[in-house]
Amino acid sequence: MYETVQRVLVTGGSGTLGSQIVASLKTAGVPVVAPTHQAVDLTDARAVAAMVETVAPTQIINCAAQRRPDLCESEDASVIALNVELPQRLAQTGIPLVHISTDYVFNGANAPYDEAAPRRPLNAYGRQKAMAEALIEHLSHVLILRVPILFGPISNLENSAVTVLAANLIKARGASVWMDDIAVRYPTFTGDVARQLLALLPEVGKRYSGIYHYSGAEPMTKFMMGVTMAPLIGCATEQCLPDHRPPTVPRPYDCHLSTRKLRQTGCFVEPTPFATAILQTLASR
Ligand SMILES: NC(=O)c1ccc[n+]([C@@H]2O[C@H](COP(=O)([O-])OP(=O)(O)OC[C@H]3O[C@@H](n4cnc5c(N)ncnc54)[C@H](OP(=O)(O)O)[C@@H]3O)[C@@H](O)[C@H]2O)c1
Repeated sequence: MYETVQRVLVTGGSGTLGSQIVASLKTAGVPVVAPTHQAVDLTDARAVAAMVETVAPTQIINCAAQRRPDLCESEDASVIALNVELPQRLAQTGIPLVHISTDYVFNGANAPYDEAAPRRPLNAYGRQKAMAEALIEHLSHVLILRVPILFGPISNLENSAVTVLAANLIKARGASVWMDDIAVRYPTFTGDVARQLLALLPEVGKRYSGIYHYSGAEPMTKFMMGVTMAPLIGCATEQCLPDHRPPTVPRPYDCHLSTRKLRQTGCFVEPTPFATAILQTLASR
């Protein structure tokens, strides 16, 4: 199955998603190269070109991004270089490319969204990801995989918007923690995304190109996620308080990504139930 996948270059391979993708490729016996940030600054066009030339990959998976809202809002040149220019540069190599994008290209007012729905981002991060998509979506060797809020095995619980809730409960030492109970999210396990990518990879630029959606199946607020996690980390569920105050910064209400198109490929990876995946995630720390 992987005979056309001889050497995969993963950018952002130390991140929440990239680390799972690298691990899954290695487990499947696929040669993978994932240069660290220290080795290659992906905001540097010449460094990116040299990396691609040296690695000479058969496929590229781009997981590198800046997703911290404060940094994205600054629209700093280095943020634009990473979130907008890097995907374009990688696409310009002509090598089959999977670029990871986000449900935040939508404003959350008209869920569920299919792949053809118009992009209407609410914040700078969403605008940058939408710009990158628009620059490369027409290329036949490019597959854009949009995913929603992610969680999975990571060394620092604070690196995921899901597991940071567990970190906050632990830090509070029994005190109450307010958790948003308005916005609807579909927490998605990075292990599932990695398995899905592995299934698609040999046919990227052949059977599969354009935009696809992958998502967990369970609608949850942050409060619901917190209540599920609390007993798993030795905290009382009563520590979680539902926050019904409107957000201070614009935030999509519900960006549910329809996975119908991906299901039609016949290689859809069924999402692991949240309770199972979060148990595995918290046990790995
Ligand atoms: N996390 C989510 O909830 C979520 C939701 C929807 C979509 N996404 C998308 O999924 C993809 C992966 O996100 P993630 O959560 O895995 O991100 P992440 O955990 O923040 O990881 C980002 C990766 O990019 C690397 N990186 C950042 N700046 C770099 C630079 N200048 N040069 C080289 N490497 C650099 C980081 O390395 P260092 O850490 O060493 O800097 C890290 O490996 C992104 O496209 C993101 O937009 C994520």
